[in-house]
Amino acid sequence: MRAIILALTFLLTAIPAMAETIAVIGTGNVGAALGPRLAAEGHEITYGSLKPQQQAVLDLVSRTGKNASAKSPADAAGRANIIILAVPGKLAEQIVLGLGDLDGKIIIDPTNAPLNPDPAFKLPPNTSIAELIQQAAPGSRVVKAFNTLPAQHMADPSSASGPVSIPLASDNDEAKAVVAELAGSIGLEPIDVGPLEHALWVEGMANLLIRNMFSSRQTFGFYLRPAPSAAK
Ligand SMILES: NC(=O)c1ccc[n+]([C@@H]2O[C@H](COP(=O)([O-])OP(=O)(O)OC[C@H]3O[C@@H](n4cnc5c(N)ncnc54)[C@H](OP(=O)(O)O)[C@@H]3O)[C@@H](O)[C@H]2O)c1
Repeated sequence: MRAIILALTFLLTAIPAMAETIAVIGTGNVGAALGPRLAAEGHEITYGSLKPQQQAVLDLVSRTGKNASAKSPADAAGRANIIILAVPGKLAEQIVLGLGDLDGKIIIDPTNAPLNPDPAFKLPPNTSIAELIQQAAPGSRVVKAFNTLPAQHMADPSSASGPVSIPLASDNDEAKAVVAELAGSIGLEPIDVGPLEHALWVEGMANLLIRNMFSSRQTFGFYLRPAPSAAK
């Protein structure tokens, strides 16, 4: 009996990172960058699209490869453990409300607010889009991630000419660890930046990057160098 338990323990520790079922809602720049990268790591990707039969979406599915498919956003979310919300930030809350039962699922939120004021969208003071999403799906586990880098660096981290940080903000450590594993597996450097209320500042990082790009035409990438532990 002891030998069987030992063998099982060995097998479980020897299994590589688990293949996840991932719904990528939105087939624009971010969806089309992350979907194929994650599929290449063995994850099953279902795109959630308003037009799943559109040629551009079918092309993306075929580029994503084995086991990939496209369905309606709610159908894609329904069959996934992890949902990437690659949609306009101003629509994120409304879209989440249409995705059905999200209890227990991990929602990865790469969204940013529109750069220019939009009369139809105003965030409550001191609130992030990520927190709105968490309120809209209280049983889910929201992780703010992938909003501080251009889509081209998601598709090909080597195009950044240096390491790229992925700040992770979430109230759920287990979900944060899963997203850290996904980010690391595609060549990016996850870094824990605290609870979900810090998503406000993570969204501010993207704002800084984009505003600077428009004002000075200078671009840069975020790399947060971990400091030596204070406990050492
Ligand atoms: N572009 C970047 O480099 C970048 C980098 C970091 C973060 N972000 C943020 O990531 C998010 C996505 O950016 P993006 O550049 O990928 O945007 P995008 O190219 O405009 O794509 C957004 C996608 O959202 C889907 N969508 C639109 N309305 C929808 C609705 N009502 N319900 C469901 N899906 C809807 C559409 O996909 P379907 O037509 O297939 O439904 C659309 O292609 C944004 O919040 C952006 O601020 C962007």
